[in-house]
Amino acid sequence: MYPEFRPRRLRTTPAMRRLVAETSLEPRHLVLPMFVADGIGAPREISSMPGVFQHTFDSLRAAATTAVEAGVGGLMLFGVPRPEDKDARGSGATDPDGVLNRGLRDLRDELGDATVIMADTCLDEFTDHGHCGVLTESGRVDNDATLERYAEMAVAQAESGAHLLGPSGMMDGQVATIRAALDAAGFQDVGQLAYAAKYASAFYGPFREAVGSSLEGDRRTYQQDPANRREALREVDLDLAEGADLVMVKPAMSYLDILREVADRSDVPVAAYQISGEYSMITAAAQNGWIDRDAAVLESLTSIRRAGADIVLTYWAAEAAGWLS
Ligand code: PBG
Repeated sequence: MYPEFRPRRLRTTPAMRRLVAETSLEPRHLVLPMFVADGIGAPREISSMPGVFQHTFDSLRAAATTAVEAGVGGLMLFGVPRPEDKDARGSGATDPDGVLNRGLRDLRDELGDATVIMADTCLDEFTDHGHCGVLTESGRVDNDATLERYAEMAVAQAESGAHLLGPSGMMDGQVATIRAALDAAGFQDVGQLAYAAKYASAFYGPFREAVGSSLEGDRRTYQQDPANRREALREVDLDLAEGADLVMVKPAMSYLDILREVADRSDVPVAAYQISGEYSMITAAAQNGWIDRDAAVLESLTSIRRAGADIVLTYWAAEAAGWLS
């Protein structure tokens, strides 16, 4: 039988494939998550994330400048306090001289408005129990008491120069609470990239090392159950109603179906976070010679874009931006 339709005609040459590609990947689509650590004398490589470092304040500035020169769309900063600076309420998160607020000031001082500086607005790096909020006497995460801490943290981060805050703790009402606190403090222009649909994922494993997390147990009373789809859409609707400026799905690769549905529904920009475990899996397979690293990285990022992400947070942001520009 003579085939009537020949899709292969549009695959004949690289130029033809380039002409008809539906999805593009540009440096501006990529956001680099970065870690700044207090009390370290030199940058420290995260053993489960080869190529990713906990930065000193100095190396943070340098690496951020390099990433911005490569064309990334933004930076997302996480703080790693010294263990002795952690406490039950995560005081370091609201201390203007806490590691994250200092790091934000340094980035804003170094880069001004040349890039979009984002801050992780969550307590888990700062609490001695490692949870994303404060605890009740019985040891459960106390939603509304945590919101009060997020409000203070948000104002401290805005005062430190963050352009966008990333509330990642999955407390109910966090976006509205932070919005009200920012507005009351005069930060109407500081927005929120809301972690709207964030799942309780095993793929966060290497991140726990990256931030020296003290968590024992899990986050299943506040992060979403991987089994659920509709719940993600409800979370997105709530965050949009509460004033989210952008919404995020996290992790990325195991949740591309969710990402597609969120992208179809959202009238604000949608981000996806290719998390630590996704980075580590590709890196480990490539180190074993089992896959072509650079090709796998680009394929994964293109797939996340194809599924509907306007913006992708990825530990490869600076490197991939360099390949793409
Ligand atoms: C919470 C937070 C986490 C990540 C980003 N923000 C950890 C968690 O929810 O357990 C994970 C990012 C990654 O794994 O790359 N502050």
